[in-house]
Amino acid sequence: MAASLLSPQPDEWVLDLCAASGGKTTHLAAQMQNQRVLIANEIHPRRVRALAENLDRCGITNAMVLNETPERLAARRKQACQSAQMRYTNSHSHPSGGIMGQVFLSTHPLVQHKLALLRDERTDPKKFRELVREISILLVYEATADLQTEPILIQTPLGRAEGRCLLEKVGLVPILRAGLVMVEGAWQMLPGAEVWHIGLSRDERTLQPMEYYSRLPVSPTVDVCLVLDPMLATGGSAVAAVDILKRWGARRIKFVGIIAAWPGLNRFTQTHPDVPVYLAAVDNHLNEAGYIVPGLGDAGDRMFGTG
Ligand code: PRP
Ligand code: URA
Repeated sequence: MAASLLSPQPDEWVLDLCAASGGKTTHLAAQMQNQRVLIANEIHPRRVRALAENLDRCGITNAMVLNETPERLAARRKQACQSAQMRYTNSHSHPSGGIMGQVFLSTHPLVQHKLALLRDERTDPKKFRELVREISILLVYEATADLQTEPILIQTPLGRAEGRCLLEKVGLVPILRAGLVMVEGAWQMLPGAEVWHIGLSRDERTLQPMEYYSRLPVSPTVDVCLVLDPMLATGGSAVAAVDILKRWGARRIKFVGIIAAWPGLNRFTQTHPDVPVYLAAVDNHLNEAGYIVPGLGDAGDRMFGTG
């Protein structure tokens, strides 16, 4: 009923503020026919997981799922409007009008505060690495919110307590080089995770990723893989890393980055609509050298003091 009355128009973004498990959202999405952007927000962490799963099941590829308070959304409204503008600027090359898969953009104050420091050109490599580790912890916290747990009984010094322990095994897959610092943060949160490295380097002229290293076990040994790379620019490296993991047999994959640019994000979500993306920011555009603008410069160089 609500969706029919709303009747989204071709130039509109739609925000479903209290999307719950997605009844209204899926109806709206059906009307929008995977065109334009549908933002589905749900404040409750459990319901937001059901929401994301329901959108996924319905094959909806133009929705962005958020887990925010109305206050924080309102505070970010101006930025979101600017982003909407950018979104349309970059979507003209897609006949469908641009497609978004499941993109989780963290507007958490700690993430945004640390991101501002990370972008600052005055931040030195030591502080830069510290910030990447901390932001990675906060984003991995969100990316792992749907991991299965099982009940356990624990003996405390004063009695027995019920607890829960992780049931699913996680593989952390940093894309070299810049993913290496992200893995430090992620590993602190998931000390039992296996870590597999994929080495990709962008050709400076063609911007195509070249694979120079890959160290995966013979067959997948985990339930979910988290691909870690702070920058998603043209999307070539992220797409290639997920291609490698899928060819190898990984079934559940998530991408955790820090900054993406709209063109690369569109490319990634079109190529791998089944892979949720967790980010701290989506920036305007790429410059002629393929760098994200405003971005933060070359992440690898800023981490390792090269360049
Ligand atoms: C950076 C970054 C990503 C890639 C993103 O790595 O860490 O892997 O570029 O660009 P894309 O989305 O256009 O593929 P880079 O290739 O510079 O290698 P490095 O980490 O070794 O410096
Ligand atoms: N790689 C980076 O490190 N930064 C960019 O802006 C783009 C690709």
